[in-house]
Amino acid sequence: MGKILIAPSMLSGDFGRLGEDAARMERAGADWLHLDVMDGQFVPNITFGAPVIRALRAHTTLFFDVHLMIDRPERYLEDFFAAGADLITMHVESTQPQHIAPALAKIRAAGKKAALGVKPGTPVACVVPWLPQLDMVLVMTVEPGFGGQAFMADMLPKVAALRAQGFAGIVQVDGGISGTTIAAAAAAGADCFVAGSAVFGADDPAQAIAALRQNAA
Ligand code: DX5
Ligand code: ZN
Repeated sequence: MGKILIAPSMLSGDFGRLGEDAARMERAGADWLHLDVMDGQFVPNITFGAPVIRALRAHTTLFFDVHLMIDRPERYLEDFFAAGADLITMHVESTQPQHIAPALAKIRAAGKKAALGVKPGTPVACVVPWLPQLDMVLVMTVEPGFGGQAFMADMLPKVAALRAQGFAGIVQVDGGISGTTIAAAAAAGADCFVAGSAVFGADDPAQAIAALRQNAA
């Protein structure tokens, strides 16, 4: 398990001033910026795509953690490389299995970090075949699609199972992470924490990020 990483999710930002919010998160001490791309197909919500991420690149030097919640994400990888993504997470449920290994190889060949995500209904065994090709596994702790949902503590055995398998990469949890839920996720073996409402809903985002970091330690 590596350094604790706090990744505010721009899904909870102000979509009319995402650039300012990105810069604000950098000043507040965020480690990564989490960017939720949704297509209205893989999930029932639509957010933004590569052009918006490219525009944000001018506002911050933060590491761009791009969470693709789109069908057949392998079609769009080059667009996200060009937009300045540093890490790309594809959902294991979002394409046919034979497309996954080539897509992960392509991400790494572009010099980016590669990750697979699992929805709450997907067992972690589904990503095990690709673990050697992964820098990170994302364990969703809510159904993907919306911010502000309740944390699903029953997902934490998946985090522990990944560590029990010997996975030494980053394990990210996403959904419902707060000052109270983060401790159990960290204890299970997670080291990267996405937080939307807990950071953007706070009066002082810097204090919220510091509190998350402290409670994960
Ligand atoms: C949900 C997204 C999350 C979301 C988390 O599909 O993947 O990144 O922004 O929001 P909170 O922290 O409010 O649950
Ligand atoms: Zn996300």
